[in-house]
Amino acid sequence: MPIKLQQNWALPETAVTPENIYMNRRQWLQAAGFAGAGFAGVGLAAMFAGGMINPARAAIGPYPAPRNEAYVGGRALTPEDEATTYTNFYEFGSSKNIWRRAQKLTTDPWSVIIDGLVETPVTLDAEDLLRQLGGLEERIYRHRCVEAWAMTVPWTGVALARLVAFARPTASAKYLRMETFLDPSVAPGQKQDWYPWPYVEGLTLAEATNELAFLATGIYGKPMPAQNGAPLRLVVPWKYGFKSIKSIARFTFTDQRPVSFWEQLNAKEYGFWANVNPDVSHPRWSQASERLLGSGDRVPTQIYNGYGAEVAGLYAGMFPNDKRALFH
Ligand code: MTE
Repeated sequence: MPIKLQQNWALPETAVTPENIYMNRRQWLQAAGFAGAGFAGVGLAAMFAGGMINPARAAIGPYPAPRNEAYVGGRALTPEDEATTYTNFYEFGSSKNIWRRAQKLTTDPWSVIIDGLVETPVTLDAEDLLRQLGGLEERIYRHRCVEAWAMTVPWTGVALARLVAFARPTASAKYLRMETFLDPSVAPGQKQDWYPWPYVEGLTLAEATNELAFLATGIYGKPMPAQNGAPLRLVVPWKYGFKSIKSIARFTFTDQRPVSFWEQLNAKEYGFWANVNPDVSHPRWSQASERLLGSGDRVPTQIYNGYGAEVAGLYAGMFPNDKRALFH
């Protein structure tokens, strides 16, 4: 992303699929009895007890998973072929057109390490991990790349909070660091040694257990294609897309703020927080509006990508002397 990417916007685009009309999220919260309280105020134990996180449900699959009507996207779905062929996955090259090359990634078996400040470090296969995390659900989220393109996608997966609960972090853990696989024989981009491979991202534990943070295993009602980050990827829709790390192979709980891949390359342009804000420009381009994949329409960008009701409380009182710090 240090490279200017505007020329990629010249890709052919097709018309959008009209979105169904879904129940408004606030209506859903009221129906579910959470009006006013917000999920952020509900402890993890209470979420298990209340059935919001149900570890006893079916394990991996089937696809499509039941849709969680609390998360409906709020705009037309991006056509599937756009979202699965216009992808950022630098391990396979810096162009958006890497989806064929990414098929070389073997995701079954897929070893996942959970370590650092946890009660018991563990290495297990992704399928076994998912069996432990309970049933899959589908959520439609808006996605906003820092390059100012955006999409609206139905993801399948589980709340990241379930993985945190499964890992049992110790009291001193403050952050979750996530790391992608490292195998230059499969991913030619990883032969480019000016990049700090493997790709790393991080969240605070409060962010990782926010209701929106999602560990995705699929997209458009099907298992995740390699190019979108199979078999496990993060989706944090209130942050710029680079935070949503693909093909995660390691989750490390730590008391040190992780330094992400892009932050290592260029901390002035890609910070740790990276929350979406139309009023805080990237040093090289405005963030005021975004181009929708599919229709090509340009629409205004919203603070926290429109998810402020869910996440603004995470940041209350932080950086009182630097109002921009959370947004780059
Ligand atoms: N994860 C890894 N491992 N490698 C990457 O290059 N690119 C990021 C993010 N996750 C990236 C990654 C960026 S910049 C974006 S915008 C999103 O993935 C794109 O997700 P998508 O290709 O599924 O739209």
